[in-house]
Amino acid sequence: MSTILSISDLRKSYADGFEALKGVSLDIAEGEILALLGPNGAGKTTLISTVCGITTATSGSVTVGGHCIKTDFRAARSMIGLVPQEINLEPFETVLNTVRFSRGLFGKPRNDALLEDILKKLSLWDKRDNQIKELSGGMKRRVLIAKALSHEPRVLFLDEPSAGVDVELRKDMWEVVRELRESGVTIILTTHYIEEAEAMADRVGVIARGEILLVEEKSDLMARMGKKELEVLLTEPVTAVPDALKMHDLRLGEGGRSLIYTYDVKAERTGITTLLNDVAAAGLVLADVVTRQSSLEDIFVDLVSGEAA
Ligand SMILES: Nc1ncnc2c1ncn2[C@@H]1O[C@H](COP(=O)(O)OP(=O)(O)O)[C@@H](O)[C@H]1O
Ligand SMILES: [Mg+2]
Repeated sequence: MSTILSISDLRKSYADGFEALKGVSLDIAEGEILALLGPNGAGKTTLISTVCGITTATSGSVTVGGHCIKTDFRAARSMIGLVPQEINLEPFETVLNTVRFSRGLFGKPRNDALLEDILKKLSLWDKRDNQIKELSGGMKRRVLIAKALSHEPRVLFLDEPSAGVDVELRKDMWEVVRELRESGVTIILTTHYIEEAEAMADRVGVIARGEILLVEEKSDLMARMGKKELEVLLTEPVTAVPDALKMHDLRLGEGGRSLIYTYDVKAERTGITTLLNDVAAAGLVLADVVTRQSSLEDIFVDLVSGEAA
């Protein structure tokens, strides 16, 4: 699949000297949904703002559909739709005019059939003559999406699409995003909800303190989630995994007081029975046995807290 957006060693220092992006590189394939997961202050909005030309990069490069955002800004920008984190709509304007105006800003000719199509897709057509101030928060967010789509972008950024949106509407939003992807739009969304990344993304990137910590296919991350750990606590600590247990792929727990065994929950045989028999045969005495499931949440928390970084 071809690359539609390429970010290379992007750095951004704000005027006060704070380095919000520390050399971010990321390639986005045409047609994918990438969720950028990161805690508040990670640099998600800065990354999006830099790619969209709202702030300028300190160094590094970005190309959209082969157009450089520095030397070919208008062409690059016209390929991008941005749904900002904050709702910034004119309260007395109607829905249709809001979206029409937005298309005009990009110098595109009026195309009411296209706008009708976008508004219908977002279930806003019945509200087209309503003023923005008459809409619910969820509907306003849909108007932001309609605005972002009005100039027919090929890449859509959604910055925290479900911040402040209740659970019901969030599911709605996920449906809308999936439908957009089916219509061929590439989507990059930021979120600090792991559940949201799980529900929507093809790939998940984790960003913290201005750095991308990992980018992985969601299915690979999910496969990792399927792993469970069994910790065998010993009455007497050991200095190494005994030779007699080498075939079991064990790690030594803290202070040698336990042996940690990782297994796949979905596997036909977990190997636990054999392991416990072999532990006893090796002359070790069990004090207790504990199981743990590693989740995307654990992986995420470890990564952003810096323990695994
Ligand atoms: N205009 C600015 N001047 C100085 N620092 C800023 C500015 N905007 C954002 N920051 C800082 O940059 C970091 C990243 O912010 P932001 O990109 O908004 O993070 P996120 O969207 O992941 O929550 C934060 O520490 C924030 O305080
Ligand atoms: Mg943000």
